[in-house]
Amino acid sequence: MPTAVEYARANSARFLDELKALLRIPSVSTLPEHKNDVRRAADSLAAELKRLRMENVHLIETAGHPLVYADWLHAPGKPTVLCYGHYDVQPPDPLDEWLSPPFEPTERDGNLYARGAVDDKGQMYMHVKALESLFASHSGTLPLNVRVILEGEEEVGGEAIAKFVREHPEQLKADFALVSDTEMFAPELPTLCVGLRGMIYTEIEARGARTDLHSGMYGGAAPNPFVALAHIIAQLKDKDGRILIPGFYDKIKAPSADELKTWKGLPFDEEHYRQTEVGSAQLTGEPGYSVLERTWARPTLDVHGMPGGFTGAGAKTVIPARATAKISMRLVPDMTPQESFAQYKRYVESLKPVGIELSVRLIHSGDPIVIGTDNPYIRAATKALRHAWNKDTVFIRSGGSIPIVGDFERHLKIPTVMMGFGLPDDNLHAPNEKFHLPNFYRGIESIITFFEELGR
Ligand code: BES
Ligand code: MN
Ligand code: MN
Repeated sequence: MPTAVEYARANSARFLDELKALLRIPSVSTLPEHKNDVRRAADSLAAELKRLRMENVHLIETAGHPLVYADWLHAPGKPTVLCYGHYDVQPPDPLDEWLSPPFEPTERDGNLYARGAVDDKGQMYMHVKALESLFASHSGTLPLNVRVILEGEEEVGGEAIAKFVREHPEQLKADFALVSDTEMFAPELPTLCVGLRGMIYTEIEARGARTDLHSGMYGGAAPNPFVALAHIIAQLKDKDGRILIPGFYDKIKAPSADELKTWKGLPFDEEHYRQTEVGSAQLTGEPGYSVLERTWARPTLDVHGMPGGFTGAGAKTVIPARATAKISMRLVPDMTPQESFAQYKRYVESLKPVGIELSVRLIHSGDPIVIGTDNPYIRAATKALRHAWNKDTVFIRSGGSIPIVGDFERHLKIPTVMMGFGLPDDNLHAPNEKFHLPNFYRGIESIITFFEELGR
């Protein structure tokens, strides 16, 4: 019988074909017209898990998109892993910037291009194919106990999985969670992510006049909600990027001296980052903090869009009756979404210009998290990565958010191993998202080796 890694290598072409089939399903969770596609993706994953001989495979219906559950719990005395992934994807726009269609997975230069290739279908599928390889090489058994939970609304901050974790912790009982939805710090550098920022995603609506008005007839007398929002937004951050919300920084816990030292030692070229990743004339942010500190360990505030008013071609002279701004803040330990949102709302309301009504609304939120590295699962993961990549693992944080990781810690009382194989230039959420195919294959091998190590 081949070893699991040998099996994975012998079947790699089929694994890739199957991943392509999954990527062809446009499971965009935020767009109502794709609701059925999201379900099709869930169905196809459930069918595949069943085929592998996972047990108790079923969809868990929620108020939003379904969860997919599966388990195999016949390794007494061995640890139980909870494998998490998300099968929903971001919208593909702007479409005209894609070199190949987002839902027609295309190989170029050793990369697979498609929406969801790395975030997170491709990475989630590594778990599935690692399980297949282990079943095939261990006479239809696994070296450890496995539960799988997949969600279809990670990209929209959906509450369904958090609710399920809160209400049914016993159904997800495990010793640790494995999440592959993060990046490696650099190509060929095995990485475990041990910290994520949290977030609050908000919307401010400003209302002025009773209805849209002719700006010539009423300009000078009627309040303009866009100008009102501009005034408010301009007071949220100073020129240095410091957030001006009173109390916002009070609970921040600085990274440990050890962590800061590790970050200093990472192969990071700020100029290369500015040019190739960001592509702006200059980087911005709080003076006195490195880029890694600013993006991993400091909160931030960003404006995503301001729907409303006239945005068509040409000119229309109107004073819109209402305007909105979508604004999010990333949080770091020990900030909490509840308190940060309350501080923000109070401050925004205090900035209310005359003649304007404001509503400040929280759309979704997630807690920040830092994972301790002193546990057997992180140790086994490091060992497996050394085996698969021939290099020592680096521990990083990430500025992104995966809210469920905090819920796993709080409600299941388990640590999460964030073993991701994305690369910094994978274009997550952007046109031409890709997965570096050697990472797909080596990721599968890493996970196989990790599980075998835990089953020893
Ligand atoms: N996989 C990402 C988060 C991520 C990206 C972590 C890169 C580490 C490195 C995840 O799918 C994501 O995009 N999360 C959202 C949060 C959600 C609540 C909308 C995010 O970070 O904006
Ligand atoms: Mn993701
Ligand atoms: Mn994402």
